[in-house]
Amino acid sequence: MPLTPVLSEFWDVDDFWTVDVYKEHGGYTALPKALAQTPDEIIATMKESGLRGRGGAGFPTGLKWSFVPQGDGKEHYLVVNADESEPGACKDIPMMLANPQALIEGIAICCYAIRSSHAFIYIRGEVPHVIRRMFEAVRQAYDAGYLGQDILGSGVNVDVVVHAGAGAYICGEETALLDSLEGRRGQPRLKPPFPAVAGLYASPTVVNNVETISNVPYIVNNGVDWFREFGTEKSPGFKLFAVSGHVANPGIYEAPLGITMRELLEYAGGMRNGHELKFWLPGGSSVPLLVADHLDTPMTYEDIAAAGSMLGTGTPMVYDETTSVVAAITGWLDFYKHESCGKCTPCREGTYWINQILHRFSAGDGTTEDLDLLQELCAQILGRSFCALGDAASTPYPAAMKYFADEFAAGTHTAADALFDPVATTVFAAAEVAR
Ligand SMILES: Cc1cc2nc3c(=O)[nH]c(=O)nc-3n(C[C@H](O)[C@H](O)[C@H](O)COP(=O)(O)O)c2cc1C
Ligand code: SF4
Repeated sequence: MPLTPVLSEFWDVDDFWTVDVYKEHGGYTALPKALAQTPDEIIATMKESGLRGRGGAGFPTGLKWSFVPQGDGKEHYLVVNADESEPGACKDIPMMLANPQALIEGIAICCYAIRSSHAFIYIRGEVPHVIRRMFEAVRQAYDAGYLGQDILGSGVNVDVVVHAGAGAYICGEETALLDSLEGRRGQPRLKPPFPAVAGLYASPTVVNNVETISNVPYIVNNGVDWFREFGTEKSPGFKLFAVSGHVANPGIYEAPLGITMRELLEYAGGMRNGHELKFWLPGGSSVPLLVADHLDTPMTYEDIAAAGSMLGTGTPMVYDETTSVVAAITGWLDFYKHESCGKCTPCREGTYWINQILHRFSAGDGTTEDLDLLQELCAQILGRSFCALGDAASTPYPAAMKYFADEFAAGTHTAADALFDPVATTVFAAAEVAR
């Protein structure tokens, strides 16, 4: 299956992030088209396109927009989730560096569709270079009349605030993000009510991922049929697949949904020299690991779920035979334990205990009883925690046991010497792209 650069087509063009160069390559032609339609027509287009949220859950975007009540006399808000903090996920940050104007054009169109005049871009605080770029990209869009009052003489007003988070993974969870944006400690809210009904400042709010909103101008410009030429019936479109880990060329490969991991591996130059694939995760550390038998599974929401994992953010992490599975999942649990917000007991206590026990295995001190205890702990957290962080923390161990039970036999696993940091590699690759 060929690569299909759309969002990433001009990433290597100098200054593509500026309004002028974006316009030279066809940018800001979707916004006037959208403004010539009614908001409901735009929502209908998004529904028909079948675009699914790229933030992890794959929720249909047009449907989400249609949940915003109309004529309620309240302010409506769009909040762009640019928190991208999942280990292995590195697509939104390069997108904002290399093509921020598509995001801004998508924001203006979305705000018009959901009858909102205020949007927020919530960016993780650890990436000041991206925050600076978004500030400048937004300023240029204001100067060119694509944001602000009376956009392109349409009478539509859209103001955009770029907001830097303070570096908590949980603030990527949409309701924790809203609390954080309101100035409180970021902890998930009870749902329902969902943000579309009572979100930011208790007003109807659409929360969408950077990549999701960046798709919008391309769909408005090229139409539903064009978009549906890519991908499958249930997972239409293309995706920024950020491949990281033990591959020869880690980086971002934009391809139709439905491409296989085997094909993505080929694009990434195969495994690093002389090494073999041991396991891989389709979408960041929050999804169950898969093995070589799954390399021909189409990368769609439905097929990856049928294989026992999740597409998640579509950012595959690849590990070779030098990796200790025990060390890898212990590292992820270090992360989840650290990032658990503490609001609910199963996750707050459970991540602590899973982590403690996994460290016993890493030190060669695990016991057979510990294996059962770990299964029980994970089962107690899964489905019982307040938000999906707890679920994410409870999946690595059962998935690892499915394929690598032998490595958990106390004292027989390989040492934690080969734990690899795929995040650093992708960030590096992204920086390369942005240059
Ligand atoms: C712990 C946690 C972290 C998350 N982090 C992000 C994130 O950084 N970016 C993101 O878009 N979605 C993240 N999500 C998913 C959001 O809650 C939400 O589903 C998403 O922003 C919706 O956008 P979409 O419909 O465009 O995918 C996270 C969820 C959880 C539970
Ligand atoms: S599952 Fe974890 S992160 Fe989510 S609310 Fe509970 S303690 Fe907080």
